[in-house]
Amino acid sequence: MANVKTVQSLCFSPTDTTRNILSIIETNIGLPQATKIDVTLPHQRDSFNGKVQGDLLLVGSPVYEGSIPWPMMEPLRRIEGEGKYAVSVAVYGNRSPETCVEEMTKLLRKRGFKIPAAASFIAEHSFAGRESGGALEGRINMNWRSRRGSVNRSGGRYPRIHRRSRSRGF
Ligand SMILES: Cc1cc2nc3c(=O)[nH]c(=O)nc-3n(C[C@H](O)[C@H](O)[C@H](O)COP(=O)(O)O)c2cc1C
Repeated sequence: MANVKTVQSLCFSPTDTTRNILSIIETNIGLPQATKIDVTLPHQRDSFNGKVQGDLLLVGSPVYEGSIPWPMMEPLRRIEGEGKYAVSVAVYGNRSPETCVEEMTKLLRKRGFKIPAAASFIAEHSFAGRESGGALEGRINMNWRSRRGSVNRSGGRYPRIHRRSRSRGF
């Protein structure tokens, strides 16, 4: 990659995993770093004008429902590639990466970037942490019970929502 003298990162990362992974990649590239662009919060997205300073941009997003989270779409549609390089990085919680990284790559290409590489990284699911109040744990238990065909206290099957959640991976 000719003329790549600086690296920069852009991320959406509500629970920090994507941000940490991008930071490690950025450090290991070993080039001077332009100011990181964070589009996690609404005011950060509003103030992002689409301009990129680095010659190589790392674009990181978590996988939501197998795809790009909707808050990430706005900055991606606004970003100006101007023939620079970008690497798309999707971080997923061991349910499935599905097509997120391919979609990001496609969008970045459309916005004028050259894409020398792309990667999907596995991470802890954000619903698995202590902060989630055991939401995933609860669902696993529910699914385990419903798979075994047990009934709830009122004599009915466990509510349909649990089975639907399982098939969507949360
Ligand atoms: C609303 C929502 C949807 C998710 N969908 C998926 C998914 O489809 N596949 C998957 O493997 N992980 C999924 N995850 C897990 C995240 O991709 C994973 O926890 C990621 O590391 C979160 O990134 P962050 O820490 O940068 O926010 C989902 C998480 C949330 C909150």
